[in-house]
Amino acid sequence: MSQLDLVIIGSGPGGYVAAIKAAQLGLKVALVEKDANLGGTCLNIGCIPSKALLHSTELWHQAQHGKKHGIVGADKLSFDVPVMMANKDKVVTQLRAGVKTLVSKRGVEIIQGLGRLGGAGKVVVRSDKGERILETKNVLIATGSVPVELPFMKFDGETVISSEQGIALTKTPERLVVVGAGAIGLELGSVWARLGTQVTVVEMLTTVGGPSYDVDIAKVAQKAFEAQGIKFELGTKVTGVKKIPGGVALTAERDGKVLEFPADRILVAVGRKANTTGLGAQEAGLKLDERGRIAIDDHYRTNLPGVHAIGDVVVGPMLAHKAEEEGVAVAEIIAGKSGHVNYAIIPGVIYTDPEVAGVGLTEADAQAKGIEVRVGKFNVAANGRAIASDATTGIVKVIADAKTDKVLGVQIVSRGASEMIASACAHMEYGGSAEDIARTCFAHPTVSESFKEAAMAVNKTSIHSL
Ligand code: NAI
Repeated sequence: MSQLDLVIIGSGPGGYVAAIKAAQLGLKVALVEKDANLGGTCLNIGCIPSKALLHSTELWHQAQHGKKHGIVGADKLSFDVPVMMANKDKVVTQLRAGVKTLVSKRGVEIIQGLGRLGGAGKVVVRSDKGERILETKNVLIATGSVPVELPFMKFDGETVISSEQGIALTKTPERLVVVGAGAIGLELGSVWARLGTQVTVVEMLTTVGGPSYDVDIAKVAQKAFEAQGIKFELGTKVTGVKKIPGGVALTAERDGKVLEFPADRILVAVGRKANTTGLGAQEAGLKLDERGRIAIDDHYRTNLPGVHAIGDVVVGPMLAHKAEEEGVAVAEIIAGKSGHVNYAIIPGVIYTDPEVAGVGLTEADAQAKGIEVRVGKFNVAANGRAIASDATTGIVKVIADAKTDKVLGVQIVSRGASEMIASACAHMEYGGSAEDIARTCFAHPTVSESFKEAAMAVNKTSIHSL
C-alpha cells in the first residue's frame, strides 16, 4: 500500500467524523477499528442504545399514566424486556450500517484490527489475519474511554456491572443500586425504575448531575426523579460490597455512619477514563498527562511528530459531540486549514424525563470567576404547551453578564431540554445577549418559550410570570 495521509485509530464519533472530514478535504485516509463494528462506545454501547431504552420505557411510563387522557386499561398492559432489547439492537444495527456507508462512500479504507504506534510514520494493525503495517504522514488517536472501576468492587458482569451490562439486562432487577448520580447513573437508573425496579442512587456529592449544574437546577431535577420513585443517598461514600442472605449489599458511609444498601445488581457509574490500552504508547514514548490522558497542544498534536489525538482520550468533557467537533477541527488542521473548537460552548445533556441540559458558565462558575451576573429563571409549569403535554416539571435559567447582558450560560430542566439547549448554543456562538433572545420570535405554543421567558426575566421583563 502506498503512503497514506492519515491513519485514524478508533472509529467512535471522534474518529469516524475526522475520517469523513479528512476525506472530504482530499486526504487519503484509513480508519482502524479493533471491534467488528464502527461507531465506538457511543453508537454500540453508550449514547444510542441508552436513548433507545429511554424512549421505550418512556412510552411504557406514559401509557401507564394515560387515564386522564382517556387511555384506559393500563392495568392490563405488560412489558417485555427482551423485545425492548431487540428494538435497541435494531437501532444500533441500523446506525452501524449508516456510519459504515458514510465512511466507505467517502473513500476511507476501513481496517479491522488493533492499531498501535509503530515508530515514525507507521501504524501496526494486528488482527486474526496477522499484522499489517500502514505507512502514513499523520496519525490520529481517537481511542475513547472505558468505565472507571472502583478498586474494592471490580466489575464482574453479574452483581457489579458497568453501563455496558446495564443496557443489556434481560430481566428487570428487583433492586438496583447505582453508584454515581452522573449522566449514566441517572439515565440507566431512570430506565430500570420505570420498569419497576427499586432504584437507589448513592452519590458522593450533595447534588445530582455533577458540577455542571447549579444547585437550584440540580434540586429541581432530583425532586422530579424522586417523584418517579428513584431514591437518592447523597453525600455518601461507597466503601465496598458484601454478601448478605439472599444477595449482596453495597456498603457506604455518611456522617460517620455505616450504611448498607441491599441489591440484586450494583451499577457502578463513577466516570470514565482515557483508553490507551494496546496503543504501544509507552514503547513509542507517547506523553500522557497526570490522569493518563494523551497530552496534546492546542492543535491536537502529541509530543510525537505527526501524531494527533482527540476525544475522550484527551483533556475535556467526555462527550460524543465534543469529540465530533474535534474530529472536524483536527482534520482541517492536518489538511492545512484552520480548525477550531469553541470549548466555552459545549452543551451537556442528561436524557432523563425531564431532561437536564446546560451550556456555558453556571452561576456558581461565574461567581468563582468574579463575574457579576444577572440571572433570569422561568418555571416550566407556567408554559402553555408544557401544561397541555403533561410536562410541567422544570425550570429554565439564563445567566447573563450584568454589564453587557451577554449570555454566559443556560441551564434547563424540562422535557425537550436536549433540543432547547441547541438554540441557547446558537445564540451564545454569536455572542447574543439576553435581550437578543427576548426579542427573538419563538413559535407558540412551544416549551421553548420558557427559554425566551427566562431570558426576559434577566431584565425583569418576563410576560408570563410575575
Ligand atoms: P460522571 O462523571 O458524569 O458522574 C459520576 C458521578 O459519580 C459523579 O457525580 C461523582 O461524584 C460520583 N462518584 C464518583 N466516585 C464515587 C464514589 N466512590 N461513590 C459515590 N459516587 C461517586 O460519570 P458517568 O455518569 O459514569 O459518565 C461517564 C462519562 O460519560 C461522563 O463524562 C459523562 O459525561 C459521559 N456520558 C455522557 C452522557 C450524556 O451526555 N448524556 C451519557 C453517559 C455518559
